[in-house]
Amino acid sequence: MREPMMAGNWKMYKDPLEARELALEVVGRVGGVSGVNIVLCPPFVSLTAVAEAIEGSNISLGAQDVFWATEGAYTGEVSPKMLTACGCQYVIVGHSERRGRFGTWPGDWPRELLGVFGDNDVTVNWKARSALAADLTPIVCVGETIEERKAGATDAVVREQVTAALAGMSAEEVACVVFAYEPVWAIGTGEVCDAEEANRVLGLIRQLLAERVGDRAATMQILYGGSVKPDNIDGLMAQPEIDGGLVGGASLKADDFAALVEAALRSAGR
Ligand code: 13P
Repeated sequence: MREPMMAGNWKMYKDPLEARELALEVVGRVGGVSGVNIVLCPPFVSLTAVAEAIEGSNISLGAQDVFWATEGAYTGEVSPKMLTACGCQYVIVGHSERRGRFGTWPGDWPRELLGVFGDNDVTVNWKARSALAADLTPIVCVGETIEERKAGATDAVVREQVTAALAGMSAEEVACVVFAYEPVWAIGTGEVCDAEEANRVLGLIRQLLAERVGDRAATMQILYGGSVKPDNIDGLMAQPEIDGGLVGGASLKADDFAALVEAALRSAGR
């Protein structure tokens, strides 16, 4: 039986003081809940504030990105070792926003900025492997754009991203990765993926994992992300392949996030 997970990706919201306040609110509501992996992923600068706020609770800390080297002359980057030193157990890797695969491109940004964050299938693989080497659990994001979906390329895109992310990993390492299927067109749009379709794609991911780790794939947590809200979470969690959510907007409101955690808890043992 897989434990459900609810991970909040706070994106570029919440400075240290705001983060502390939100984390304390989340602790107040669900800090004592067991049976759900609850993960908060604030911006780098707010990791320590959140680590302090969640201390002694059942909530874990995650970062939103990581660099692959342990230390060195890499201005502006943050290493896996630095994240564990801040109390992180998880790190999001290869979010579509970091892959430069935005659903909508801000109108006043020149196209030359596309890819400014620079992630691709190779960097995602390096980041995931370096995270594992530092005992961090990578939450690897995959998913198609609306153009790819309309072209019938969803499965091919997901297959390619999953396969590339796992390149060079041992079966032991693969078994420690958490995947999150986040269709780009569902992120921040309010347009959640149909639960049965999300379940189908997660099933495909699990099948790809089984090719690498055999039966152990059945024990691996796989998440859905993209406009997860309190009013659609029950339908998602009712699906057998969906073990939880990677949540953006709704994770910034303690009440909404608590409602998602409670829904995940209700779904356990489904
Ligand atoms: P939303 O929940 O705001 O759609 O964001 C999803 C996401 O990108 C989580 O990583």
